[in-house]
Amino acid sequence: MSGKIPREFIDDVLARTDIVEVIGARISLSKGGRDLKGCCPFHNEKTPSFTVSQTKQFYHCFGCGANGSAIGFLMDFDQLSFREAIEDLAESAGLELPDTGPAREDDGLMPALLDTLANANRFFKEQLRDRDISQDAVNYLKERGLSGEIAALFELGYAPPGWDSLSKTAGDDKKTMDLMAKAGLTARKDNGGFYDRFRSRVIFPIHNYRGQVVAFGGRILHSGEPKYLNSPETPVFQKGSELYNLHRARSPISKLGYSLVVEGYMDVVALAQNGVENAVATLGTATTERHLHRLFRLAPSIVFCFDGDRAGRSAAWRALENSLPELAGGRQISFLFLPDGEDPDSLVRKEGGEAFQKRATKATSLPDFLFRKISDETDLSRLDGRARLVELAKPLLAKIPEGPLRELMNQQLREKSGVQSLESDNERATRRVSRNNRSTTQRLSPMATAISLILQRPKLACQISLPENLSMHSEVRGFSLLERLFGIALKQPDITTGVIIERFRDTEDGPTLEKLAAKDHLLEQDDFLPFFTETINTLEDQALGQSIENLVSRASQEELDEASKTELSALYAKRQNLRRQRSES
Ligand code: UTP
Ligand code: MN
Repeated sequence: MSGKIPREFIDDVLARTDIVEVIGARISLSKGGRDLKGCCPFHNEKTPSFTVSQTKQFYHCFGCGANGSAIGFLMDFDQLSFREAIEDLAESAGLELPDTGPAREDDGLMPALLDTLANANRFFKEQLRDRDISQDAVNYLKERGLSGEIAALFELGYAPPGWDSLSKTAGDDKKTMDLMAKAGLTARKDNGGFYDRFRSRVIFPIHNYRGQVVAFGGRILHSGEPKYLNSPETPVFQKGSELYNLHRARSPISKLGYSLVVEGYMDVVALAQNGVENAVATLGTATTERHLHRLFRLAPSIVFCFDGDRAGRSAAWRALENSLPELAGGRQISFLFLPDGEDPDSLVRKEGGEAFQKRATKATSLPDFLFRKISDETDLSRLDGRARLVELAKPLLAKIPEGPLRELMNQQLREKSGVQSLESDNERATRRVSRNNRSTTQRLSPMATAISLILQRPKLACQISLPENLSMHSEVRGFSLLERLFGIALKQPDITTGVIIERFRDTEDGPTLEKLAAKDHLLEQDDFLPFFTETINTLEDQALGQSIENLVSRASQEELDEASKTELSALYAKRQNLRRQRSES
């Protein structure tokens, strides 16, 4: 979508950035040992487990495992794209993004699309203000109870009837016409030329979290099909990640401690008119993981609001299934089912905002909804009904991250079903293994240790060289990665962990390196070199051992030739030598 930013530029930006300043400007940090500490912004916690290392230029949360460089932090915290995060940091560092070559045309596309959408938004608003054109639309909005103030706040507009009301504002400018099409505002006619996508509709602009218009929804006046027409997906608009009204609802959500997810534009607007300002709407799609991430970043609780009818219940169930994997770190999800025939718009107009908020705070918790639904599907008076309950619940509960909530829900399942042991022996064993693998006190293999140390203290590469035996004989996994890191560190001994991590972004090794960067070896400054030396020696010993073993096993099947015999004895000698050196030092 955009030209690649040169690696040197990313290095440069990070070299002029202090991660402590970047993060310190957004959350409060205090001195805690060698590093800085604070409460993690990515999960809900009261005791700080979030650390920022100035030397490594890397952050890590021991609670939820979030980690990364200053770029990664901005991407997650400010919800920026990779490019935007770099632009942000570059700007603070007084650097200008270099010309990124042939992809330049594409690079310029996003700002141009945003401009085009902003112009269209202005156009639609002007049309609504012009009563000669918009009388029908204004009457319609009044009928639906919208105040002028709320229409202005939500920047409602009107797309007039004709086929080219908007298109013709481009005049003869080919570039503007092209941008309008790319922004989803117009479509191409069979005989060339363009026609307006939105005609005779009330327009709801959709903003991204930064408040830039990225798309539109248009409602037909009165009845007709389709009732709502939405912008197609474009480079600046992905339905699976945008939420209607998110940019306005951000601070009310944080203040109230929960977000309210409703289905329609009109619901959001009517709620806001009645003082309920923490509502957002999905854009005609099911709730995605990205939606949930965005909302959980603002507050630890989400209330989904659905119609009380069958369609509403099945949409709620879909939302529940998508949310289970996100239920970590004290997050809560509830479901508010409205009386049959009501939607948030109609209900809040009848009852007022306060009563609506009250309903929201009393909404059904996700665990209750889950158990109620599957209990309804089983006959708990029968043994095989209770067994079925367990079978229905197990795959759902398994999606919840390990933690107190899952444990409590398992307990509830045991109580409801009377089945004490929900896991088969097999499952229990697997779980134990995976838990051990994940723990932060997990022992790393010597290769992983070496990689982790060089990543955390790149200068070590100048102090020890990689033994020749290792490169000649090693078949150990990870060797080529270690070698690459050595190469990087030798070339730039002052490189930080954060910069190295960025070089491996979106590569196969990226995630492994992030984990290894976060690993705490509990070493004092002066202990790094001896520990690293010892680790490299162990690797060399292993490599020699592996080579010896290969030759020995070959010897058991065939007579070794002279060269191999000489090699074998040389390997033995080297290993003995190495072991002697190690015991002497
Ligand atoms: P609803 O059909 O529940 O409409 O669609 P509503 O929000 O109550 O609308 P009003 O009150 O009749 O004006 C909910 C949402 O589903 C999407 C829109 O995002 C809408 O806000 N939708 C609905 C469409 O995208 N297309 C449609 O034709 C209908
Ligand atoms: Mn409605």
